[in-house]
Amino acid sequence: MSDESSGTLANLAHEERRFEPPKEFAEHANLKADAYDEAEKDRLGFWEKQADRLDWDTRWDRVLDWDDPPFAKWFVGGRINAAWNCVDRHVENGAGDKVAFHWVGEPEDDKRDLTYSDLKDEVSKAANALVELGVQTGDRVAIYMPMIPETAIAMLACARLGAPHTVVFGGFSSDALANRVEDCDAKVIITADGGYRRGAPSALKPSVDEACDKVAERGHEVRKVLVVRRTSQEVEWNDDRDVWWHDLVDSQSTEHECEFFDSEHPLYVLYTSGTTGKPKGILHTTGGYLVGCAYTHWGIFDLKRETDVYWCTADVGWVTGHSYGVYGPLANGATSVMYEGTPDTPHKGRWWEICEQYGVTILYTAPTAIRTFMKWGDDIPAKHDLSKLRLLGSVGESINPEAYIWYRKTIGGDRTPVVDTWWQTETGSIMISPLPGVTAAKPGSAMKSIPGVVVDVVTDEGESVPNGSGGFLVVKEPWPAMLRTLWGDDERFKETYWSRFEKQGFYFAGDGAKKDDDGDIWLLGRVDDVMNVSGHRLSTTEIESALVSHPKVAEAAVVGAADETTGQAVCAFVILRESALEEGEEAPDSLIQELRQHVQKEIGAIAKPRQIMVVPELPKTRSGKIMRRLLKDVAENREVGDVTTLADSTVMDLIGKGMSSSKDDA
Ligand code: PRX
Repeated sequence: MSDESSGTLANLAHEERRFEPPKEFAEHANLKADAYDEAEKDRLGFWEKQADRLDWDTRWDRVLDWDDPPFAKWFVGGRINAAWNCVDRHVENGAGDKVAFHWVGEPEDDKRDLTYSDLKDEVSKAANALVELGVQTGDRVAIYMPMIPETAIAMLACARLGAPHTVVFGGFSSDALANRVEDCDAKVIITADGGYRRGAPSALKPSVDEACDKVAERGHEVRKVLVVRRTSQEVEWNDDRDVWWHDLVDSQSTEHECEFFDSEHPLYVLYTSGTTGKPKGILHTTGGYLVGCAYTHWGIFDLKRETDVYWCTADVGWVTGHSYGVYGPLANGATSVMYEGTPDTPHKGRWWEICEQYGVTILYTAPTAIRTFMKWGDDIPAKHDLSKLRLLGSVGESINPEAYIWYRKTIGGDRTPVVDTWWQTETGSIMISPLPGVTAAKPGSAMKSIPGVVVDVVTDEGESVPNGSGGFLVVKEPWPAMLRTLWGDDERFKETYWSRFEKQGFYFAGDGAKKDDDGDIWLLGRVDDVMNVSGHRLSTTEIESALVSHPKVAEAAVVGAADETTGQAVCAFVILRESALEEGEEAPDSLIQELRQHVQKEIGAIAKPRQIMVVPELPKTRSGKIMRRLLKDVAENREVGDVTTLADSTVMDLIGKGMSSSKDDA
């Protein structure tokens, strides 16, 4: 563990607060304490029981095939359709009139309720439309959309056809979209003219046009682009390729007979940042993934289908939006809220207004949002009736105890349990979390692995650390929603997740963690070159390559520095090319802004550095590896740590002296 982590460890040891579940909550909880024993006694039997939450066309004949690790197969021989489970079966079971989504657009009074019957009709129409566009089982379809009902409809239509979707976050650039489309060889893209953000239409279609051109230059053809009209912005139109959703989908039949697929049929590919510049296409398959989402959404959020109104605020471009915005809640027949816009539009109480209006009972969001609301002040949520809330969830990064307490008190009226849920794009569903009706939760700790999942903290050698010590977070046994591989790259899959503890056969999550004196787990952040900005993963290397692709940059190093609101913020150190400046000239602010914009254009706004420092040298070891730890010290205004392994020990002085920087407060 680094010096910094041990500092954190010492601080955490002082946390004495505990929050017991309210008595009534505990009495009626979906998951009770005996679930731990049950799962421990017969883990596979426990998962079989969870799989019975779903409708299977053919039942599996084997729960788990782990004969060829790390390639798992779950519910082997089972046949299932994810869309049927999320939509049709609820209609068949008489819940057709139940609202699946209360959708709220960003412009006020722009609302739409979709019942399960509506959803069934829309998904069937969209599936028929995709067939008309030539989409067949197994084909990949890219989805680049705002948060509108058609996004979930598009995902479910793909699932219905067994055409794996790859959703690309609407905030990503055309380059990022092009790379993903190319990597998974998507021939069809579903998009919209734009969506509403911060009170104005924000275009999407131009990025799709650019991405199509870019991949065409590399010999890949996107055959069709299906476009939802959302903002009525002007769009360029390619008559051979582009099709309006309302022209094609609206006239389709609402009947579509779905086929059932093998449990291991690919459901989707979702790209996430790794330690190299190339994003990893995480592959999730159908049966196990859906079991993981349905079980955890029911158990961790204690879903009471008839009475709860559930809201996961994550954008569908991230895994949280997949598992807990679409697949989990729909598989369980829940009523959810979906909101298109930003929390401050048209006013900073928008979320709380929505909670009041729809009587939201379960809210799932990220610490970065909670900290932003804290900054905005208690008076804003205080204007709204939040008394229906009975459970709060947090995900994406550790929730610091202050934010946890604020969330519980100010939003939850000091009565709601808070579940701090740890998981990853790769794990597919929640792995570590308190059980809201069982656990006496500690603010800042995700507590322990949920029933059915076996997580531990281990030493470099793979030995379980004693209570009170830190180490690496691993998963010791396979679980149904685990990633199956990286799209098209089995070797990288093995290398990234399974080589570190190959002998023991553990999954290496890439996070550091500590067990406290009770054995409860405290997450300490990534141990690799992956940053966590606003609960989203960014790779340092990816941003470094974006910076060096600018003609004025010779070299770049990027670190994630602590940030009060976003958890970590992107801080970049760049060495300029000699030609970029006149002799003795300081880097002008305009150049710094140009570099920040450049990163935004290459990757997306989320990756735009908060701060860029122009330096004459970078600290490197003798083998040439950049010592990011030292740069982090600089970025976090700390005294620079041990420099003995530097090839040139004067470099840090040079950086200190020659540093000119710009910080963005926008
Ligand atoms: O570092 C952990 C952090 O987010 C990483 C996973 O990021 P991503 O795949 O984008 O998924 C985010 C949403 C599931 C993890 O390796 N992380 C996620 N949840 C927590 C967390 N760190 C601490 N506490 C959490 N509850």
